[in-house]
Amino acid sequence: MYTEKVMEHFNHPRNVGEIENPSGIGTVGNAKCGDIMRMYLDIDESGVIQDVKFKTFGCGAAVATSSMATELIKGKTVQEALRVTNKAVLEALDGLPAQKVHCSLLAEEAIHAALWDYAEKKGIIIEGLVKPKSDIHEGEVEEEA
Ligand code: FES
Repeated sequence: MYTEKVMEHFNHPRNVGEIENPSGIGTVGNAKCGDIMRMYLDIDESGVIQDVKFKTFGCGAAVATSSMATELIKGKTVQEALRVTNKAVLEALDGLPAQKVHCSLLAEEAIHAALWDYAEKKGIIIEGLVKPKSDIHEGEVEEEA
């Protein structure tokens, strides 16, 4: 059912955890299943993502896609990270079963939510960035947990 790459990232997820005082933090929920993901970004003065970490209360496919997504955006500029779509993540993982494709959206949206937070904090506009609809306010997560 799952590709070798998906299983590998699920069993050994990269970049799990938190970043203290992140440049941007984004928390999103998957409307289909209710799963939640939080993404932390450490972005330097030249707009390069120096570090990224994630935490998820989600399924195995969400873990694997987030792990791959964090690998794909680490060391990239904000604009390059924006181009890492869920399609790109799926390709890098050699695909997901059709009923699990929605899980990969969580990673893309969490990255966008964290970039949105970064832009707000810095008072800048990131061209092409749209605030994810599934963005969750901090307080809502604590209440649900
Ligand atoms: Fe919820 Fe996969 S079933 S993210």
